[in-house]
Amino acid sequence: MKAYRSSLLYFQPSSEPRHSVIYEEDGLLVVGPNHQGVQVVQAVGPYRDVVARYPEVSVQHFPGRIIAPGFVDLHSHYPQTNVIGSPADGLLPWLENYTFPEENRFSAPEYCAQAAAFFVAEMLRHGVTTSLTFATSHPASVHALFTEAQRQRLRMITGLCLMDRHAPPDLLNRPCRPGGTDATEQSLIDSEALLKQWHGVDRLGYAITPRFAPTSTDAQLHGAGALAARYPDVWIQSHVAENHEEVAWARDLFPTSDSYLSTYADFGLLRQRAIYAHCIHFDDADRVLMRDSGAAAAVCPTSNLFLGSGFFDYAGADRAGFHYGLANDVGGGTSFSPFHTMLAAYYVGREGQTKTGLSLSPQQLWWQHTAGAAQALGLSGVVGNLQPGCEADFVVLNPKATPLLERRTAQASNLDELLFAMIVLGDDRLVEQTVISQAF
Ligand code: GUN
Ligand code: ZN
Repeated sequence: MKAYRSSLLYFQPSSEPRHSVIYEEDGLLVVGPNHQGVQVVQAVGPYRDVVARYPEVSVQHFPGRIIAPGFVDLHSHYPQTNVIGSPADGLLPWLENYTFPEENRFSAPEYCAQAAAFFVAEMLRHGVTTSLTFATSHPASVHALFTEAQRQRLRMITGLCLMDRHAPPDLLNRPCRPGGTDATEQSLIDSEALLKQWHGVDRLGYAITPRFAPTSTDAQLHGAGALAARYPDVWIQSHVAENHEEVAWARDLFPTSDSYLSTYADFGLLRQRAIYAHCIHFDDADRVLMRDSGAAAAVCPTSNLFLGSGFFDYAGADRAGFHYGLANDVGGGTSFSPFHTMLAAYYVGREGQTKTGLSLSPQQLWWQHTAGAAQALGLSGVVGNLQPGCEADFVVLNPKATPLLERRTAQASNLDELLFAMIVLGDDRLVEQTVISQAF
């Protein structure tokens, strides 16, 4: 058992009211092993009350700091770290000119290993402790990311990128040997082998990962759906409705589906634990399909602003009632920082919604990147919060980390002002430490 004394920021347990922050000015967080030997939160609350229940516990004091849940990021691409900031006239030329050539380099296992080590360390340095991330179409890229995440104890969900058409030939899934099993069948065999090797090991999870409908044949999407049916507790990740040209292309390729999103439903790829990046160009029928299937959206505001893809419709999502959370979408996204992502989400609310704009509160923004994102993953009560039983992943924030942060946060007269100052002015300097749940 160990305890941390500090200001504490966390959320009401799970559902309602959805994003209600609890803030303890002088709080105590007690962590210790659960029955499986994983370090979880044992108690949380006002210092005076909690310390009375744990008089023997050794307490580490962080004066002037704020302890908050580790961030949960719903979508990124570890092979795209080197692509950040590559300008293009929209998604499809960006993929062709920058992203596919970089992903091609992941055919070399050593290249994968160094990229994975950098990516995992960078996520942790920015306070992200749970991540759903794309690898490439090379099995070695998946092994490298799982290996590194296991070593650094980042909670990582990833999988083999499925692509058997409409990408450069070297990037398509490969047959084992020329003339052997066909490439599509091999991609599904490789996915299942990776899933069996890694899913549920320590803090790792597998995601069946068709890149997006345009780069898969019917046979591959059908196989991915069949795999998902056999393994209901693995995740699914893909992209949908990000960009007008992409939507038109997908409609052209799958004309019998009711919509681009419906294509995934038609192949059994919409369900709980299915996370779709972007979800911008939806109509209400799509939103209802998201809700009814239990799928969730990864909202990627820095990417959507950078590539000019459009604005996620928060009001529409809430009207339908489907789950969503925030994501950095490196390297279409421009930053690893959850603070930059939350600020961009605020811009999207202001600029993208109706005539008057929508002002997402700092509590909503923070929730979308922690407990809300955990809920989208089906991991409420496991990560994204500091309620008893949650894995002990947290960040220690220093609101005086820069002269401007110190000056501005000192003026905050209520919780919303404090949180907003950190969202607007924060970056990796605000994250003094990222503490990860240990296993004994
Ligand atoms: N759609 C298909 N692939 C990608 C990708 O790598 N990034 C983004 N932003 N959208 C995609
Ligand atoms: Zn993406």
